[in-house]
Amino acid sequence: MCGIVGYIGHRNSIPILIEGLKRLEYRGYDSAGLGIIRENACTVIKQEGKVSQLEDKIEKEKISSPLGIAHTRWATHGVPNEINAHPHVNSSGKLCLVHNGIIENYAVLKIGLQKQGYEFYSETDTEVLVKLIDTFLKMKNNLFDAVRFALNKVEGTYGIAVTSADEPDKIVVAKKGSPLVIGIGDDENFIASDVNALIAHTSQVVYLEDGEIAAVYNNKFEAKTIEDEEIEKEIQQVAFDIEDISKGEFPHFMLKEIMEQPGSVKNSFRGRLLFEEGSSKLGGLQGYEDRISQSRRIIICACGTSWHAALVAEYMIEQFARIPVEVEYASEFRYRNPVLTPEDTCIFISQSGETADTLAAMKEAKRRGALVLGVCNVVGSSIARESEAGVYIHAGPEIGVASTKAFTSQLVVLALITVLIARRRHMSIIDGQNILRELDLIPGKIAEILQQNDKIKEIAQNFINAKNFLYLGRGYNFPVALEGALKLKEISYIHAEGYPAAEMKHGPIALIDNNMPSVFITPKDSVYEKVISNIEEVKARNGKILAIACTSDDKIDSLVDYAIKIPDTMRIFMPLLTVIPLQLLAYHIAVGKGLNVDQPRNLAKSVTVE
Ligand code: AGP
Repeated sequence: MCGIVGYIGHRNSIPILIEGLKRLEYRGYDSAGLGIIRENACTVIKQEGKVSQLEDKIEKEKISSPLGIAHTRWATHGVPNEINAHPHVNSSGKLCLVHNGIIENYAVLKIGLQKQGYEFYSETDTEVLVKLIDTFLKMKNNLFDAVRFALNKVEGTYGIAVTSADEPDKIVVAKKGSPLVIGIGDDENFIASDVNALIAHTSQVVYLEDGEIAAVYNNKFEAKTIEDEEIEKEIQQVAFDIEDISKGEFPHFMLKEIMEQPGSVKNSFRGRLLFEEGSSKLGGLQGYEDRISQSRRIIICACGTSWHAALVAEYMIEQFARIPVEVEYASEFRYRNPVLTPEDTCIFISQSGETADTLAAMKEAKRRGALVLGVCNVVGSSIARESEAGVYIHAGPEIGVASTKAFTSQLVVLALITVLIARRRHMSIIDGQNILRELDLIPGKIAEILQQNDKIKEIAQNFINAKNFLYLGRGYNFPVALEGALKLKEISYIHAEGYPAAEMKHGPIALIDNNMPSVFITPKDSVYEKVISNIEEVKARNGKILAIACTSDDKIDSLVDYAIKIPDTMRIFMPLLTVIPLQLLAYHIAVGKGLNVDQPRNLAKSVTVE
């Protein structure tokens, strides 16, 4: 949530900052601003709305500077307007700060500062932080130490970048709970809350850890802990390039990412299938295989789409590995009093690896002695680094706020973890081999479904004016029903609910009339006939029905208004196929409504606040 970018070097920082903000806009997009140092003063320009509006405003100013910091905001404290937008400054206007995160004790700090005579112009917690730094700057006369001392007084989370017009040779950055990365250039350096913002300029990066602070100059950086301990930071190479974060020929990132799934799914299992042994090879779990497969219980925590992947994993692990699984919302897990022992394995799933609730839940599980594993997409993210062991899903950068390819890649990795555990317990080599062989066919089957994009677009036009939707599925496809409903809600703002199909008659059936479409996920499995009965119940009440059914199912067409066909597969992999039409359906309905699917209202890609 919120994106930070900064530049110090020999070029004009403004185009670099604007381009970086555009790449970070998926993190927040209700207001934006930048602060540059020129002629021993700090110039701040802010704007409510999108980065492009800020860009228009700056163009009129005709200014330039080789040092600047910038921010795109997702409001937490204070409405999205120009005053609350970042950067925030001290009273002299020389000290300039951008912040991602929440200063939890800002109210107490503010009272203390007001007693010292400080006045406040905004409703933000960030303005409190810049003025707190100002008090130490007056005492220390040194920006780095002033920031360090101030951060020792702060409770909450932050990724910050600070500049002072009196020290125009550096940007001071620090991190706790919100990501901060330094990009190493040639006589120029960059800072950002995400490598996406700096990959156009450098692939050499340094990730700050929680409690670390650094002074970034044009030709070097110096890092310490906020307790003033010296630290050595390793420079790392980013594994993707600018192509991976560009839309290419697609109108939206979401469509590009849906269409990429045959490749992204393949990348998730590439080099990880041990056909001969009927098992999987997951380097990140090496040395932990016994402990995981002997677990008394597996608890999986996540949020949103990643939580839906966790629900699918519950079916996978219990069916094949026979270990009891519990799936928890990370936000709930972290605040209750979970019973955990060292015999428990906790898996934390997160595309971004930065979700605040998931990260906090992970720290809580670690504190209580459980084995803590991460399943993440973003390499080097906080959750990946905080976990004891884990697996990257290798879906590639996901920019669209609605998660699509990360979900299918999460399912692949969770299936591989299942096979790894199951082969150490009860699964036969033949069963293991069959699963791997089928997984190998999944990218081709996804590609077949994607070829129906035009048909799905046509079907979607019939639902553009719907106000409510029901998504129904059973077994492995119940979580897919939830995911289909979430996709629609997020980007089309149509109210949608997912249910296990059999639950319909316990309440939701009351909603059915000819204005309430239902999406049934009806693969040919053991409960097929039962789901068909549910379809009949909806039909009897004049409900419109769209079915996601198997190609081999020729009965379904006569029963429903619209049917989208998918190839047959094993039950464990059905969600990898059934979710694809639902992603496309949500996408085309939202586009049909004229909405910005990549940046839906009120949302942000990476939820780094509670
Ligand atoms: C998915 O479409 C959502 N935007 C959201 O629910 C997301 O899955 C959730 O915030 C968790 O994110 P994470 O996977 O990065 O932790």
